[in-house]
Amino acid sequence: MDKFVIDGGRRLRGTLVVNGSKNAALPILVATLLTDEPCLLDNVPRLRDIRTTVRLLETLGKRVVFRGKTVVVLPGPRSRRPRTRAPYDLVKQMRASVLVIGPLLARFGRARTALPGGCAIGLRPVDLHLAGLAALGARERTEGGDVILEGELKPGRLRLRLPSVGATENLMMAAAAVPGETVIENAAREPEIADLGRFLTSLGARVVGAGTSRVRVRGARRLHGARHRVMADRIEAGTYLIACAAAGGDVRLIGAEPPHLRTLLESLRRSGAQVRQEPADGGLRAGLRIRMKGRPRAVSIRTKPHPGFPTDLQAPWMAYMSLARGKSSIREHIFERRFLHAAELVRMGADISVAGRTAAVNGVPELRGAPVMASDIRAGAALIVAALAAGGESEIHRVYHVDRGYERIERVLRGLGARIRRAKE
Ligand code: EPZ
Repeated sequence: MDKFVIDGGRRLRGTLVVNGSKNAALPILVATLLTDEPCLLDNVPRLRDIRTTVRLLETLGKRVVFRGKTVVVLPGPRSRRPRTRAPYDLVKQMRASVLVIGPLLARFGRARTALPGGCAIGLRPVDLHLAGLAALGARERTEGGDVILEGELKPGRLRLRLPSVGATENLMMAAAAVPGETVIENAAREPEIADLGRFLTSLGARVVGAGTSRVRVRGARRLHGARHRVMADRIEAGTYLIACAAAGGDVRLIGAEPPHLRTLLESLRRSGAQVRQEPADGGLRAGLRIRMKGRPRAVSIRTKPHPGFPTDLQAPWMAYMSLARGKSSIREHIFERRFLHAAELVRMGADISVAGRTAAVNGVPELRGAPVMASDIRAGAALIVAALAAGGESEIHRVYHVDRGYERIERVLRGLGARIRRAKE
């Protein structure tokens, strides 16, 4: 297992290019199950979760070829019966594996998946995925920890109890392969959903309203191949913005999309960072530039579905606020126990207390390096943010979590002047 060793206290300076979005690429890769024709996906980040998804597609009969950041998904050798089962060893590594049930069921009338258990950030049930598919006509039973769905789906009108990102994606993919119009009300509005909508449209479905709370999908029995460029990763961009604000410095992020980051940018500005849009210049794409000097002002946040403050940036924000002048509160509305990083930040000298879904952060003038442990992708990112800003050396253990969501984060940060290296445990 790897760890990161970070010698903190250096300002970050320079330019980075934002990678393609993990959380957009995952459902888009899964959506290639809707067609037998080749699909070309550009700007796919090279991450563990992407490799897990590719293994899942291969298990389900696809052939996948990587050409740098382009992934080509091709039909595999013909088999007599379509493969429609997502096995436990993949689902337990990555919950997003359950996204395959919508497209498989819609296309082949059958899907079987292991049920994902709880995880470090919450219980994370998949009841909304299953209820939505049942409303379109699926019959459901469980067998040996797996859920089996069968039936011919019909178009319909659904209303989600809460705007789940994964359920919205699963149902959009299912609806894309069902002739007629399906309407999803109270849909999640995350930009990754709009990206999936664009991909489904390029496969030959008609998707209107993806990225709003009402998504209409006109499906087709036969979808064709397509080429698609995955959107920029707003959470990766947000993490680097917060890292620069915490450590101080001047960083330009090429390819960052300001409309996807509105609430974060407002919070950063209120904390004292200067953030501005950068136009395209000399062959470089447009993006953002952040400059920060001195300690931030305390800014409270509460996580909400998009366009609210993203839960995936809550942990890095807490690390940043640990160093603020004054007190802030952080309220987590999306997941019930996404505060495991708080205790690790306390090991670095932060003053944080957690009660239920609220963390009270009393800013301190400095953090000190310490050995700490990542519990999920974004908790790991938060510890990196803290270690970059802290005095002295930190060791961050279990960085395989970070590798699920950030492409070669240590190289990117070294490019900005940070002292960070990967070492074996
Ligand atoms: C997606 O997870 C992201 N993952 C998460 O990113 C992100 O934190 C989350 O959306 C919220 O923005 C991917 O896109 C692969 P949800 P997802 O369904 O789809 C409850 C990261 O770090 N719920 O919107 O699983 C659920 O328990 C990851 O990159 C049900 O109750 O999130 C949670 O409390 C972590 N029943 C809330 O809804 C359901 O059937 C939101 O979950 C589904 C969800």
